[in-house]
Amino acid sequence: MVNVSLGQRSYEIKVGLELLSTLGQECMPLGLGKRCAIITDSKAGPRYGKHTKLALQRGGFEPLVITVPAGETAKSLKSVQKCYDQLAAHRLERKSFIVALGGGVVGDLAGFVAATYLRGIPFVQVPTTLLAQVDSSVGGKVGVNLKAGKNLVGAFHQPQLVICDLNTLKTLPDREFRAGLAEVIKYGIIYDVSLFERLEREMPKLLQRDSETLAQVIARCCEIKADVVRQDETETGLRAILNFGHTIGHALEATSGYGKYLHGEAISIGQIAAARISAKHLGLPQSEAARITSLFERAGLPTSAKLSSDSHKRLLAAMQLDKKVSGGQIKFVLARKIGQVEFGHAVPASLIEDALTE
Ligand SMILES: NC(=O)c1ccc[n+]([C@@H]2O[C@H](COP(=O)([O-])OP(=O)(O)OC[C@H]3O[C@@H](n4cnc5c(N)ncnc54)[C@H](O)[C@@H]3O)[C@@H](O)[C@H]2O)c1
Ligand SMILES: [Zn+2]
Repeated sequence: MVNVSLGQRSYEIKVGLELLSTLGQECMPLGLGKRCAIITDSKAGPRYGKHTKLALQRGGFEPLVITVPAGETAKSLKSVQKCYDQLAAHRLERKSFIVALGGGVVGDLAGFVAATYLRGIPFVQVPTTLLAQVDSSVGGKVGVNLKAGKNLVGAFHQPQLVICDLNTLKTLPDREFRAGLAEVIKYGIIYDVSLFERLEREMPKLLQRDSETLAQVIARCCEIKADVVRQDETETGLRAILNFGHTIGHALEATSGYGKYLHGEAISIGQIAAARISAKHLGLPQSEAARITSLFERAGLPTSAKLSSDSHKRLLAAMQLDKKVSGGQIKFVLARKIGQVEFGHAVPASLIEDALTE
């Protein structure tokens, strides 16, 4: 169990097998109303919706199930509207709560609905992808996309509880699982060299989805995210380190047409480029940059993007548009060594280009 200490907004993250069936019990002490809504998608819903509903009913709750289509397009104001209408039709009230059952898309959408319906009702995260378990379900950032870009509308709304049931990962497609590993490796690079070393040792076990290894690694990632969020809940500084590899990664996602790369794949390429920049700009030892590249490779993630000179230009332009840019300069999170990064480094465009073509 991991505690996210945020004063009155503190909550627990539970990681383990067969946790879904305990959901009702876990919700009982939280002082929530009886009525609740499970928001899920068309892939997680058919697999885990019934089980989740039963578990809540066993705890004395009365759940309504709302299913949105699977995929990033569901993270829209249109889906938000549909959810509001159903919540209102079923008379959910101030003490009612929402359960987000699915990946990061469902978590961000359901969390945003919870943050805004009746000016905010409680919600519980039940993440079912590796990415959602180690990243999106923790920290309280919720929101949806606009045509103009990803995550442009949102709020900070912390969940009351996060339940990571490792059983749900068994049905996750391989590509999605590997994409989640890109965030897992990130935590090692930004915060914890022993996690990184453990991943070097246990990558084969992780790829086999060994429960014991997964439980420990996921819990450690949540601990790190919780620790960072506790120190900087609303991203005025330190929280930026979670964006290691993301400046390039986001730009790659945007310019290659959303869908070509999964987020985890794009940030794999982004983190490797950031490591190369770190070697030149901040003295990250070459041997450590090489270990970083090799670990992503062993996780089955892409290490470089084959880009035409035209796409290079578009990539750099897209980086300028990233939310993390201030005063026209692209600011990078860079590593001094594995386990220790710094944020706010301005990097000349030529260095970025070199890192991408190396
Ligand atoms: N709020 C945050 O702090 C934060 C952080 C990182 C990412 N995100 C957001 O998270 C989203 C990405 O999340 P994701 O990678 O989980 O994507 P996702 O929610 O789209 O899930 C990936 C795919 O797996 C399916 N799926 C989910 N659980 C499954 C299971 N157990 N078995 C089989 N299939 C399953 C989904 O239906 C989907 O098709 C993005 O929108 C991103 O912006 C948010
Ligand atoms: Zn990410």
